[in-house]
Order: sequence, then C-alpha cells, then structure tokens
Amino acid sequence: MNILVINGPNLNLLGTRQPEIYGNDTLEELMMWLQTSPISTDHSFKFFQSNHEGELIDILQDERHWANGIIINPGAFTHYSYAIRDAIAAIQVPTVEVHLSDILNREEFRRISVIAPVCIKQISGLGKDGYIEGLKLLNELFV
Ligand code: DQA
Repeated sequence: MNILVINGPNLNLLGTRQPEIYGNDTLEELMMWLQTSPISTDHSFKFFQSNHEGELIDILQDERHWANGIIINPGAFTHYSYAIRDAIAAIQVPTVEVHLSDILNREEFRRISVIAPVCIKQISGLGKDGYIEGLKLLNELFV
C-alpha cells in the first residue's frame, strides 16, 4: 500500500513544542519510527509537513492517484479548515485523522473537528501510537 502521511502547522516543532502535551520526539524521529514499525512492512510511504493550508491541499490533490491511504494530523486546521475538508472529500482516498493530544479534553475550540466527518476515523490522545493505530485501520481496509 502507498501511504501518504501529512502533518500540518507547528508539527515541525515537535520535540521542543510543549513536550508535556506533544511528547519528546521530533517529527523526523516520529515518522522514522512509524516507517520502521513492523506493521509498516510492505508499505511505501511519503511524508509531508507544511505550515500552509494551500500546500496541504496541493499535496492531497497531487498525491491522490499515488496514495491508497492517508494519515493526516492537520494541527490547528482541524478545527476550522473547510478547504482541507473539501480536499479530502474530493479525492476519495481513505483518510484517518490523527492527533497526538486528546483534543476532546483540552480547550473548548479543539473539540470541534471539521475534518473528522470526511475521514474514516479520528484518533486522538494516544500520542505517537495514534499514527500506528491509523495505519492499522488503513491496513484493515485492504485485507
Ligand atoms: C494537534 C491538536 C491540535 O489542536 C493542535 O492545534 C495541534 C496538534 C495534536 O496532534 O494533538 O497543532 O493536532
């Protein structure tokens, strides 16, 4: 399976960004850990991070024929980007929304995801394991 992993704004700062909330791993370490996990065998990965909404939409569109599944952590765009939601709905590639932190038990504004309704599932609060859980869900779709 071809898996596109997208991380949105401020996730490039993982490792130093509020480690008590987001953990100590850098984004690069986290993505390497995902790619080398036993359940990743037989998959090809592309990793993308951007702080810009339009770039996230461009990558969703550009990789729509390559990707069999998408794992996306849209960062704060989760809570208000109808444009990213529309892009995911448009490309019709199974997509899992992942959050490191438990967005349902933080500030009020984080409880709303405009992205979740177009994803097969939202995974939140499992730390980096959320990315593995997302991959497991995509795996299940193709067995
Ligand atoms: C996040 C949660 C979002 O609310 C926040 O804006 C982020 C990270 C998470 O992974 O927990 O940037 O998506």
